[in-house]
Amino acid sequence: MEKQVKTKQRVADHGEVFTAEREVKAMCDLVNQETERVDSRFLEPACGDGNFLAEILKRKLQSSQMKRYKRSPYDWERNSLLALGSIYGVDMLIDNCISCRERLYSIWNAEYKKVCKKECNDETRTSAKFILELNIVCGNALTLMCVDESAQDSDEPIVFSEWSFPRNDAFIYRKDYTFDELVNAEEKPKKKKNDSQITLFIDDEPSVDEGGKFIQEYKCHYRLLGKSDKAV
Ligand SMILES: C[S@@+](CC[C@H](N)C(=O)[O-])C[C@H]1O[C@@H](n2cnc3c(N)ncnc32)[C@H](O)[C@@H]1O
Repeated sequence: MEKQVKTKQRVADHGEVFTAEREVKAMCDLVNQETERVDSRFLEPACGDGNFLAEILKRKLQSSQMKRYKRSPYDWERNSLLALGSIYGVDMLIDNCISCRERLYSIWNAEYKKVCKKECNDETRTSAKFILELNIVCGNALTLMCVDESAQDSDEPIVFSEWSFPRNDAFIYRKDYTFDELVNAEEKPKKKKNDSQITLFIDDEPSVDEGGKFIQEYKCHYRLLGKSDKAV
């Protein structure tokens, strides 16, 4: 069984007690249908090393939706990046954020190797790491500010990126939003909303109309994330 506590000091300072796998699975089962949908968005606001996010990513990558793309590395790569891009975490401790990113990356990469075999390439791997770098934020989920390596608030607000392939081609689009705008948007009544999807689940279609004013939009080939992103 995984250790639920690292040190007593960390429990006292940061309330750091990790959730056991059995509880994680049972809670994910409550929104099972969403965990198996590639582009359903999930946010864990005190993610630790990603116990919930790891389980959600596994379910997404092994879903029947992803199985359909097994014959085409191009389709599997794009949709698996979409799955990664749908998973968000915040933690105020940098070591937890790094562990969380590494853990999600190794889950994604293991599945990538299994499915795409000789077609695997390092460009897509770099793109996967880039998405995780942005989606797993070292921040304070109460003040909604990024934090420094001592877990102290900085002047930078938490920003989350919405990833999509709006034209269903090789170009991935990224829209940046501040975190508080997304949270506020969630509190507004929605036209089409499933009530069972509120806790970890953010939204299926956040948009400017629903309260989120985005900061900037970028696009680039999905294998070149972080290298040739252009502002749209
Ligand atoms: C109880 S642990 C839960 C970890 C993980 N969600 C799990 O269930 O295994 C709480 C985590 O929240 C982080 N944390 C505490 N206060 C926070 C805050 N204000 N903003 C972001 N993270 C915070 C701690 O560093 C710790 O990793």
